Amino acid sequence: MIKVGIVGGTGYTGVELLRILATHPEAEVICITSRSEAGMPVADMYPNLRGHYELEFSEPDASVLASCDLVFFATPHGVAMRMVPELMASGVRVVDLSADFRLKDLDTWANWYGMPHESADWAEKAVYGLPEVAREAIRDAQLVANPGCYPTAVQLGFLPLLEHGLVNPARLIADAKSGASGAGRQGKIGMLHGEIGESFKAYGASGHRHLPEIRQGLTAAAGKGVGVTFVPHLIPMIRGIEATLYAELDNPQDFDRLQALYEARFKNEPFVDVMPFGSHPETRSVRGANHCRMALHRQEDSNIVIVSSVIDNLVKGAAGQAVQNMNIMFSLDETMGLNAPALLP
Ligand SMILES: NC(=O)c1ccc[n+]([C@@H]2O[C@H](COP(=O)([O-])OP(=O)(O)OC[C@H]3O[C@@H](n4cnc5c(N)ncnc54)[C@H](OP(=O)(O)O)[C@@H]3O)[C@@H](O)[C@H]2O)c1
Repeated sequence: MIKVGIVGGTGYTGVELLRILATHPEAEVICITSRSEAGMPVADMYPNLRGHYELEFSEPDASVLASCDLVFFATPHGVAMRMVPELMASGVRVVDLSADFRLKDLDTWANWYGMPHESADWAEKAVYGLPEVAREAIRDAQLVANPGCYPTAVQLGFLPLLEHGLVNPARLIADAKSGASGAGRQGKIGMLHGEIGESFKAYGASGHRHLPEIRQGLTAAAGKGVGVTFVPHLIPMIRGIEATLYAELDNPQDFDRLQALYEARFKNEPFVDVMPFGSHPETRSVRGANHCRMALHRQEDSNIVIVSSVIDNLVKGAAGQAVQNMNIMFSLDETMGLNAPALLP
């Protein structure tokens, strides 16, 4: 049994980790932290977990965390980078769901996150945990930086086009929409039902923290610099991301082979489903599941490839992908604990 600790257990990604790990046959959660709810039984806060956990939330305690085999950080940015070095020294393995170890350029990180990075060594050693790209490196990693939600949907959708050099990498567009759980569980007026219900808006159009992460991943896939326009939107639903991606094919004749190319690229990927050409993947088809579903489109004679990519932001975009990474790190079946189909309707 893998002894698991979770730092930041009262947030949405923390409770999603608990939900997934509740039926994982090889993992046992031995510690779950919350500073504000220390002492409260987990099931009192999350009644869906009644009967699954006897645990109470507790204050983060370095010695308890050091007794775990693996610790998930489900905390805001700036927390893991301060606690991880001590855990690394104890030999604990970590999957960090926050952005602390995702970017390799720490000046860029400091610009976007508004504070200096405090763990340059580990930022360099951390493996960016997108299994479809870095499975072998994840296997041996002590520290995995779990990708962001938008970056997961966007990178998976663009990967085959960039890896095969079929599109103009300078003109990529990602028009993405997310449900409200993407903003976490803290109370904010702008996230009240009365503010976001029956409404729909773009935000961060002049720059969003996920942009440098998307750019870093797509640059690696293309093997050269990329130009990405990324505009996120907030939609009045709880879970889910749909990313509509646009790229300009260098040779329009390549349209004929794109579907086969996408199917081949993801054939052995348990959590990527390439749907028939012209399909419209729905966020509800991945709600609660660790899948990314995607489909390709072409409008008449245009040379623009359109890819629609959907994930559940809390699962493939956070806790599910984190458990997928844990499975890889501990040489388990990668799909263990992650096989339940999506909830529908
Ligand atoms: N929501 C998503 O869809 C999503 C997707 C991908 C990645 N992420 C990332 O995952 C992380 C967690 O997101 P979330 O949405 O679950 O956040 P959240 O709902 O705001 O929860 C944050 C958790 O962190 C704890 N925490 C806050 N400050 C802490 C500190 N200084 N030390 C220890 N614990 C602290 C909080 O509990 P206490 O304050 O009681 O300790 C709470 O349990 C974030 O970095 C987020 O960007 C989120």
